[in-house]
Amino acid sequence: MEKYVSRESTLVVLGAVATHFIFNRFEPVYRPSVWVFLFFAPPVALAWGLHLPWTSVPLLVLKHLATLVFSVVAYRLSPFHPLAHIPGPLSLKVSNLVIAYHSVRGKRHDLMEKLHRRYGKIVRIGSDNVSWADAEAAKVCMGNKGLPRSVGYATAETSETPGSIMTAYAAFYPEPTKVHAERRARWAHAFTSKAIRECDTFLLPRVERLLKKVGEQQGSLDLGKWFGYFTFDFMGDLFFDGGFDMLNDQDEDGLWKIIEDFAPAIASLYYLPWLTPILLSMPGADDAPIQKFFRFAIKCVDGRLKKGNTVKDAFYYIAGEHVEDENKPKPSRAVIDSDVQTGIIGGSDTTASAMANTVFCLLMNPDKLKKLRQEIDATFYREGVDQNDSARLAELPYLNACINETLRIFPPVQTRISRGVPRGYGGIHVAGVYLPDNTSMDFPPRVIHRDPDYFSPNPDSWWPERWLADTSGTTEQPFIMNVDGFMPFSVGPANCVGRNLAMREMRLVISQLVYRYDVRAAEKDPQEFQRKWLAGLQDHQILLKGPLDVLLTPRSPNTN
Ligand code: HEM
Repeated sequence: MEKYVSRESTLVVLGAVATHFIFNRFEPVYRPSVWVFLFFAPPVALAWGLHLPWTSVPLLVLKHLATLVFSVVAYRLSPFHPLAHIPGPLSLKVSNLVIAYHSVRGKRHDLMEKLHRRYGKIVRIGSDNVSWADAEAAKVCMGNKGLPRSVGYATAETSETPGSIMTAYAAFYPEPTKVHAERRARWAHAFTSKAIRECDTFLLPRVERLLKKVGEQQGSLDLGKWFGYFTFDFMGDLFFDGGFDMLNDQDEDGLWKIIEDFAPAIASLYYLPWLTPILLSMPGADDAPIQKFFRFAIKCVDGRLKKGNTVKDAFYYIAGEHVEDENKPKPSRAVIDSDVQTGIIGGSDTTASAMANTVFCLLMNPDKLKKLRQEIDATFYREGVDQNDSARLAELPYLNACINETLRIFPPVQTRISRGVPRGYGGIHVAGVYLPDNTSMDFPPRVIHRDPDYFSPNPDSWWPERWLADTSGTTEQPFIMNVDGFMPFSVGPANCVGRNLAMREMRLVISQLVYRYDVRAAEKDPQEFQRKWLAGLQDHQILLKGPLDVLLTPRSPNTN
């Protein structure tokens, strides 16, 4: 009997180690059927081979799974793991479930800051994931001859969305950069200087509507929410020739709520891409918030296609309506749907966050708000000056310093611009670090932006003057301003294609808000105002925010 027990135990261990090897080598992450087979086949085969009673199978399965878990954990913590040389806390090395949990909680930005302070520029944050707060590494990995996005982008793949511009650049695609370049070319058409100028036909009325609506509100108002309505409506204009109108109905359809609801799940599933197909195959998956959002966007595309191209909006280019040659291939309907879905989210929440954080920083620094207002008044309070003049706004030094400084301290994409080393690539050696195939790396703009190696002194403080190299009032610490360490829009061929449009929106809205209104925080105690705002920030890749309650009083220029 004893002999059988030891033979049985040995075979359980061998079965579990072999299963671990198969997972590790072939990564059948998207095939739940293979999982089921690997979890159950070895114990069943063992019972059959040793002529054990079938009633022993459940216990054998348990032993198999327990040994498998032990083998996985031991390997991930062992010096034999290919990322063993990257420092990091044990809890995060053991399983991606831990970083996924932090992503659901929304305090990833605090965690990443803490981890990088403790472990240095590169930290292991998962079984095959690192966070890399190094501008040099970011530039190489995201640059022209860099790497594709990591496999985590498979999270965004569903049967309805077979690949947006984001996922087209991901490591699981064959020839990711080629597929992406083709998509990107259409997007790039949509955001040339000329195309952005043409957007003014619908952008300027939207800005006007926003400023009018916020002025009409009685008492305090959540300005962050109104910025969200504005950017969302503007995305409706950009892609569907209008129709969202949240500024009027204050999100009657609850679309912001849907985005807020799916943000934590999407942020965490990025680290568990194998879980997405399982969840999507479960009953009720159709009612998941993300699916509701996809259906909403698909309906909007239906409407826009029916209406035809009355304006040269972003949709016009992304859907290939600008291509006159009938023989040239046009994007499929599925590609249009998924690109538009990406655009709506990528272009609304980010810009709204940047504007809300700019106002927060200005309210926390009344002297700087005053300085900005002086610059704006001096520029605009003259007859015949076009307050919307794009070139003039782009040249206002203090306005741009305030926006850039906000994007530095509070980048809307806080902690994860992702890249991955594809399977079969042969690993990479960058900035003195070796990373093997299948490593996913997160470049965390927030941490890089606050690194004194790139911005000093006071890298954690909002100090627009650093952008003007105005060092007055600083201590004897060296002044460092290394813009290689500034990447709110990322860098390289997959960086933010909407960057110039976003800057145009932000310059218009912030300058007009400050010009027309006296803005004050509803909370009188600045410490409490700051505490509440920081506590409300939730980094789910999409940056969720608490209320930004302010009081607005119309002003005539030069009143203070
Ligand atoms: C302050 C505002 C914005 C910020 C901070 C921002 C930031 C980013 C970042 C960090 C990326 C990821 C790039 C990478 O993986 O390397 C990105 C990609 C992208 N953004 Fe933005 N974004 C903003 C506004 C916009 C706007 C207004 C649009 C237009 C609708 C837009 C459309 C896109 C698209 C389509 C991509 C994917 C680009 C590609 O894969 O080639 N973004 N953005």
